[in-house]
Amino acid sequence: MIRNVLPALVLLLGALSTVQAVPGFTFRPHNQQTAEKGVNGGSRHGHGHKEWSAESGGGEHREFVQCATLSPNTQEQEMEEKKFTQMLRKHRRPGHKTGELKQIDLPIHFHIIYANDTQQGGMLKPWQIEQQMFRLNLDFMSANIRFFIASTSYRYDPRWFNTGVGEDYDYEKAQMGSHRIGDEQTLNVYTVGWGPDRAGAYGYSHYPSNYQYDPGWDGVLLNSVTMPGGSEEGHNLGRTLVHEVGHWSGLMHTFEGYDCSGQGDYVADTPVHAGPSYYCDIPMDTCPGYEGNDPVYNFMNYADKDYCRSEFTPGQIERMRNQLKIYRNVEDA
Ligand SMILES: *[C@@H]1O[C@H](CO)[C@@H](O)[C@H](O)[C@H]1NC(C)=O
Ligand SMILES: [Zn+2]
Repeated sequence: MIRNVLPALVLLLGALSTVQAVPGFTFRPHNQQTAEKGVNGGSRHGHGHKEWSAESGGGEHREFVQCATLSPNTQEQEMEEKKFTQMLRKHRRPGHKTGELKQIDLPIHFHIIYANDTQQGGMLKPWQIEQQMFRLNLDFMSANIRFFIASTSYRYDPRWFNTGVGEDYDYEKAQMGSHRIGDEQTLNVYTVGWGPDRAGAYGYSHYPSNYQYDPGWDGVLLNSVTMPGGSEEGHNLGRTLVHEVGHWSGLMHTFEGYDCSGQGDYVADTPVHAGPSYYCDIPMDTCPGYEGNDPVYNFMNYADKDYCRSEFTPGQIERMRNQLKIYRNVEDA
């Protein structure tokens, strides 16, 4: 049985606010191991702990990763997508009109992990959380998905807050599992710091299809500097969470596969492109033989400014709602 035990970890690796994105940067996940066991044991398959490395082309810039995805093994993903399509077919009610989007309301639990009372130490202000919710709901309006705060809790945990991305998975995973609230329809967001320069990553999320294997790990990890009013200039409008919730709702990056051919993100109306787009003011077409320019404004791309990322396509909206229906049992999605 194929078990996509460790989900595609989705990381937005960032940098200090003074650093600019470096064109030509390539990201390479390496050292993929087999892995963690699923909740119900069984075959151990998938990607284990990961290490990241970055190459950057810019001389004076420090090593910079705008964002990085660790895709699930392609073969496993193919299988999961087949299953998904079959399940979807079974669920489709006769008479269901496409294009009619019933409102979906989903609860969020915010877990604010902090090291001390300062913003640098992760202590977010209530207004930051309010503005984050405003941003999230505005951006998900086109999908008619709304989120409401079910709870906000603050946890003093310097170890978790200060640990760099990927450095202490076991602890992070254990903490997530022990603090997670609710069922598969409940979004848990954990805000952390990720390392001494607060720059290790912007966020990551787990896909809905992973819930069945690893429910304790379901949720989004978010660098607190990306919250509205956060210190990460250009990335502090709250769009990192929008992007991560896109993943939590089943969307992949628009450049998934890093290839002009192949399945890409399994969404028909996002033009294929060969890699992340970092700039939204430079039109790009990295797959000239295929229809459309690179979707530089898409939420699920890596434009290096929050204001650039501003759209979901109808195909992405349909996929999110279908993924929520199949894997998160959201009715009428
Ligand atoms: C608060 O925590 C952050 C992150 O660990 C640290 O950089 C900062 O110096 C701390 N500030 C104080 C006042 O302790
Ligand atoms: Zn991502």
